[in-house]
Amino acid sequence: MGKLLLAPMDGLADHVLRDILTRVGGYDGAVTEFVRVSGNLLPPRTFRRICPELNHGSRTAAGTPVAVQLLGSDPACMAENAAQLAALSPAAIDLNFGCPAPTVNRHGGGAMLLAEPERLFRIAEAVRRVVPSHIPFTAKMRLGVCDTSRALDCARALEAGGTVALVVHARTKADGYRPPAHWEWVARIRDVVQLPVTANGEVWTTDDYLRCRSVSGSEDVMIGRGAVADPFLVRRIRALAGGESVERSLAADWLELQPLIAEFWHQVQEKVEPSQAPGRLKLWLNSLRRTFVEAEALYTAVRTLRGIEETTRMLELHGVSASQRWLP
Ligand SMILES: Cc1cc2nc3c(=O)[nH]c(=O)nc-3n(C[C@H](O)[C@H](O)[C@H](O)COP(=O)(O)O)c2cc1C
Repeated sequence: MGKLLLAPMDGLADHVLRDILTRVGGYDGAVTEFVRVSGNLLPPRTFRRICPELNHGSRTAAGTPVAVQLLGSDPACMAENAAQLAALSPAAIDLNFGCPAPTVNRHGGGAMLLAEPERLFRIAEAVRRVVPSHIPFTAKMRLGVCDTSRALDCARALEAGGTVALVVHARTKADGYRPPAHWEWVARIRDVVQLPVTANGEVWTTDDYLRCRSVSGSEDVMIGRGAVADPFLVRRIRALAGGESVERSLAADWLELQPLIAEFWHQVQEKVEPSQAPGRLKLWLNSLRRTFVEAEALYTAVRTLRGIEETTRMLELHGVSASQRWLP
């Protein structure tokens, strides 16, 4: 079957959640949230902070390769930083041409660049020159800023600039995250480039995955929010592809998830300020509510809590205790 990739999600899936989700298994690769490049040469510690996996061969604890994503608009500065990053041996270097955040777009970065395919080409070409050929150099794009009129030109520009693979989030910046994702545009892009093109957007279930593959024609699919909301989705997709039954009760999945939540809570406490830890837990539980009724109850129970101890106690009341942490 094709590859399944875990999408970059700034503020939602950092290295802690990447670790947890890839432990469940099934991912061929993951991409970090973007590292913003704006004028300066970033020190190695900035790349290592966003991608601690760089200290372990650019792989998560489960062994999944992690690409590091750069976001910026100045070709020379992007190249300088890509060279710095390349020296840290990332599994791949990816460029972001899809971020719709106003703070990023105001400086001409992320999705705004999709209005200027020539600039995409210049950025890609400049970065290509400094990234050694053994490090895959890839890009992730949306379909455009307000419409799709330049989508094909953007894909062509990135290919001409030397990227070896492309992920297409099948929406424009103006579409935001509103369904549907226009997977048929991934097919149109595939028609005009030779590169492998990964389809992305709005895959929440095994059915979505099958439809996405069939409409886009892409073998490879990247999953974002659906992976956070249902940590077993990719495993179900693999089971389906292998002809196995994918029927399993959500209650059984929730039991399996409890040790993963315990592990997540443990790691979050180790890695972020105590004042931020409960918020991080709530963020994930908020996504899990979409799939699990038990997560809804747990989210409601911890929502107003601010302290570590009280949150830990509430988790224990809901069957999530440190003693059952998921250990490899
Ligand atoms: C909270 C959040 C943060 C995101 N951060 C990034 C990012 O740093 N880099 C990037 O290329 N895409 C980012 N994205 C876009 C996702 O990678 C993905 O393209 C998008 O969510 C569509 O896929 P999905 O429908 O499977 O979630 C982000 C999406 C969300 C929801």
